[in-house]
Amino acid sequence: MKNRKDIFNGYILKEYRGVALFTLIFVSLLFLVFAIIFVGILIFNDSVDFPSRILLAVLSVICAVLWIVFPIAGILSVRSYPKHKRLAKFFFMNYVFVKIPEIRIGGLSDARILAELGAQTFWETFAHCNTESDMRYYLDNTFTTERLTQELETQNSTFYIAEIDGRPAAYMKLNTANAQTEKNREGWVEIQRLYVLASYARMHIGSALMIKALEYAASINADGVWLGVWEFNEKAKAFYTKFGFSFNGSHEFILGQDRQRDLIMEKTDLSDYRN
Ligand SMILES: CC(C)(COP(=O)(O)OP(=O)(O)OC[C@H]1O[C@@H](n2cnc3c(N)ncnc32)[C@H](O)[C@@H]1OP(=O)(O)O)[C@@H](O)C(=O)NCCC(=O)NCCS
Repeated sequence: MKNRKDIFNGYILKEYRGVALFTLIFVSLLFLVFAIIFVGILIFNDSVDFPSRILLAVLSVICAVLWIVFPIAGILSVRSYPKHKRLAKFFFMNYVFVKIPEIRIGGLSDARILAELGAQTFWETFAHCNTESDMRYYLDNTFTTERLTQELETQNSTFYIAEIDGRPAAYMKLNTANAQTEKNREGWVEIQRLYVLASYARMHIGSALMIKALEYAASINADGVWLGVWEFNEKAKAFYTKFGFSFNGSHEFILGQDRQRDLIMEKTDLSDYRN
């Protein structure tokens, strides 16, 4: 994921945006130039035989059509993002929709924001695959302002809040030392929670938070970064795998009355994230 780190370097991102638009304009102009060349040969070169004239006519029509269609398709592909991400990627337009969040460390005054963000993202992620009573029980006991205040006060726990245009869009909770939810992880960093609002999914905000976690772990020379992910949370597993995490064990997670299995994922190579 080395490249992903670069994407969040401001000026490179701007270049990507420029490159995306430049590619669209350049490629469509190229089609126009070819159409003009083919038509020019047709008009001014009498020595071209009949089959070649047909071929040139067909090619000039195709190029003229692509000159119009290519930029329109490129712009429309952005509107289909992130549902048809591959289409946007084809036109190099996905970078237009990368969101660069402001990431700040949460303080005590953020307890209410974190409680709301925590409840909403947890509901969006897990409500469809759990009973309503288990969900309600968990939310009512986990994402209260009082509980979040306690967590914010806990030594060796840090919350990061990612904001887009001044509005919270995602958050992450990191634990070190004895604040971790597993024993025997002395030199490690735990990502206890990393949640992006559904409306901001696939815009690389999760990546921005993950990079923050990995850079922090590298800066304190941690042994590695670990986390627990619900065994059926395929999207999150894909996200962590993309960042080079691998599976190593499991632990129990209780949601209301339901005993679930979280898979442990770890990453020990932090060399890409040292400054
Ligand atoms: C999982 C999550 C943190 C990812 O954050 P995100 O900002 O949506 O993801 P990004 O845009 O940074 O994606 C980075 C990469 O992760 C992978 N990825 C992210 N979401 C994915 C999905 N839904 N399906 C498959 N791969 C996915 C992709 O490889 C992606 O790279 P690409 O965009 O070049 O294809 C976010 O979607 C989320 O909060 N989900 C709900 C909560 C959750 O499950 N949290 C984890 C609890 S353990």
